[in-house]
Amino acid sequence: MRDDGAVNTDATAGSDDAIDRSRLYPRVTSFRFRRGALTANQERNWERLWPALGRDLQIGPDREPEPPLDADAWFGRTAPLIVEVGSGTGISTAAMAHEEPEANVVAVEVYQPGLAQLVGLIDRGGLTNVRMVRGDATVVLTELVGPDSLTGVRVFFPDPWPKSRHHKRRFLQSGTLELIAEKLRPGGVLHIATDHADYAGWIAELLATQDPRRPHVVPLTFDSPILLDRPTTKFEGRAEREGREVNEFVYVKPFPRTKAADRPRGDEPSANIVSADASPAAAGERPLTDEAGER
Ligand SMILES: C[S@@+](CC[C@H](N)C(=O)[O-])C[C@H]1O[C@@H](n2cnc3c(N)ncnc32)[C@H](O)[C@@H]1O
Repeated sequence: MRDDGAVNTDATAGSDDAIDRSRLYPRVTSFRFRRGALTANQERNWERLWPALGRDLQIGPDREPEPPLDADAWFGRTAPLIVEVGSGTGISTAAMAHEEPEANVVAVEVYQPGLAQLVGLIDRGGLTNVRMVRGDATVVLTELVGPDSLTGVRVFFPDPWPKSRHHKRRFLQSGTLELIAEKLRPGGVLHIATDHADYAGWIAELLATQDPRRPHVVPLTFDSPILLDRPTTKFEGRAEREGREVNEFVYVKPFPRTKAADRPRGDEPSANIVSADASPAAAGERPLTDEAGER
């Protein structure tokens, strides 16, 4: 990974691609194109397991809109759905999926060797609740996932793109934040961690300046419906050694609240949404933790 945040336009993304994937994405992406070959063992695992556990997004200027994700069919069950953006080598993904078997987890990553490591972790760990998408998480959130459908979105140690001229490449922007909020269900949690002080300030500013009339998230004030304990990844370990603070943001999509006075007598609370509240009780709903019947 290049530390200067520069875009590497000469590399291919994975050993099974004979094409230069960097030419097939828009110029401004939150990811770099990194070379990386799979080991022979990873190749074998990939061949064996990827068709069932993974999905490749189409790439290129002429690509069609992606068919929506049928998570229930893919996982073979209905369960709270969590999307992890930029899962890297999948250390957190696998460890957390092991601790929350009641959740369905979709790890999204562009870097094939990282996904190949996660394939191995899933295989060795006997995990049945993880699936993977190879491609841009923005496309996943925009095209694959429906509104109000996610119980959690995780963004752990997103690439900081430290130089000012590269800030537009940061995954977290006001647009992606609103997109995430739109796709979270009320009470669904956005969990972000970063060890980059400037990115942390950027994220805090984004969170503080959301438009409350648009889909948005607010600080979590009740029990989280998703696991928040992360294992220490190499990013966190390095941050600790180098004395950098890890900042975490745990936000939730508020439950809609209806204004009783505007409601025709006898009507159930419905579309007359005038404000929102972070608390499940505000909408007369049970927390998702109860819904899931766990934790
Ligand atoms: C700094 S690494 C962190 C990896 C992992 N979350 C961890 O904590 O170890 C950021 C990862 O996000 C991936 N990434 C960045 N933008 C992405 C996007 N739009 N869609 C999918 N993956 C992305 C990169 O390929 C990279 O592997």
